[in-house]
Amino acid sequence: MSYQKKAAKWMNQYPGIEDLEQKAEKRMPFVAWEYLQSGTGNEDAVRRNQQKLSEITLLPRFMRGALNIDTSTQLFGRTYGAPFGVAPVGLTGLMWPKIELFLARMAKDYNIPYSLSTVATQIPEDVGALAGDMGWFQLYPPKENDLRSKLLQRASDAGFNTLIITADVPVPSRRERTKRAGLSVPPDITPRLIWQGMMHPTWSIATLRNGLPRLKTVESYSEIKDMKAVGEFVRFKFRGNLSWEYIKEVRDLWKGPIILKGLLHPLDVEEALKAGMDGIGVSNHGGRQFDGAPAAIEMLPEIAKIVNGKAAVIFDSGIRTGLDIIRALALGADFVLMGRPFVYGVSALGQYGGDHTTEIFLDDLKNNMGQLGVETIAQVKNLKAAPVHG
Ligand SMILES: Cc1cc2nc3c(=O)[nH]c(=O)nc-3n(C[C@H](O)[C@H](O)[C@H](O)COP(=O)(O)O)c2cc1C
Repeated sequence: MSYQKKAAKWMNQYPGIEDLEQKAEKRMPFVAWEYLQSGTGNEDAVRRNQQKLSEITLLPRFMRGALNIDTSTQLFGRTYGAPFGVAPVGLTGLMWPKIELFLARMAKDYNIPYSLSTVATQIPEDVGALAGDMGWFQLYPPKENDLRSKLLQRASDAGFNTLIITADVPVPSRRERTKRAGLSVPPDITPRLIWQGMMHPTWSIATLRNGLPRLKTVESYSEIKDMKAVGEFVRFKFRGNLSWEYIKEVRDLWKGPIILKGLLHPLDVEEALKAGMDGIGVSNHGGRQFDGAPAAIEMLPEIAKIVNGKAAVIFDSGIRTGLDIIRALALGADFVLMGRPFVYGVSALGQYGGDHTTEIFLDDLKNNMGQLGVETIAQVKNLKAAPVHG
């Protein structure tokens, strides 16, 4: 049965992202859920992201007649169906098997970008074939030049046209909550995990059918394929290598647009512009890296001012509604990404769950554009938003 047959029923049953979140929690083993949800430290940054978004208000205008609402958006010389896409998420198959494949197909159907993580559980060739020209590839920076060139070439050959370099993982984060849940990366098959699996039979059957999640992309460069060894390989070969020199080298290697994701400091933004970045990714990694970070939305206006049209501003961290998308665009973003909401969708509803996540965002985006009296994304960007009316 295709998504279309389920759409109306699902929209009544699961009208918001929080409905998918609740259902996903029930269907996933605890350890996978904790991995998905966790921030780090006290998880203040996670809470701040949503709190600060919800404080932003906008003033609606009326008497504008029948509105013809259009969500299409220009970015990097392409026209996307909406001003949002899927953020890179690693270890995806732990949350639900084949998640990358379902979301890549969905992204192509909706004409929105899908970002594949370096540490995803499916390979660029399989995902790229489904994403068509909607594929973005996220790079955790390999230490060795040879590995870096091979990986970039591979992503490009697989059809990925836009590169995301993740800046905000200089060291791994502590993620106490995932440690308490007993997760090692990659996951160890402990009696605890087996027990949790038994309590979540749909997940377990899907996992048995597809095999345990493996970091398949990086695995192909590691001599030892055992999951533990691949985890170590990632830790030692893909972390803590970024410098402006490195960014410039990648700039020379990658022909398409590059987004530097995870920037919060205005001086880093200025450097990124000098290094020829096409996109500035304003993000605090969904609150997963540094608990003392401001909400990403707090830094957006200042960063947008510095960028001033010299690059695109791509925002993520905490977006849960179409209204949040409008808030980010009104504060200076050109485009937004969501991470957890798409994982909720697939984990809650299976292969068409990502379609439903997109439908919720689209429906809420259009509805709130209507409430505000705007018809186009360009008009959304011209709205005046403020934490308090002003
Ligand atoms: C489970 C999980 C795994 C993630 N893995 C990656 C990753 O591999 N690479 C990356 O750049 N960002 C990663 N992120 C961060 C997301 O790309 C994005 O910045 C974040 O999820 C946005 O916040 P949101 O979940 O509130 O939408 C991950 C996020 C989550 C929740």
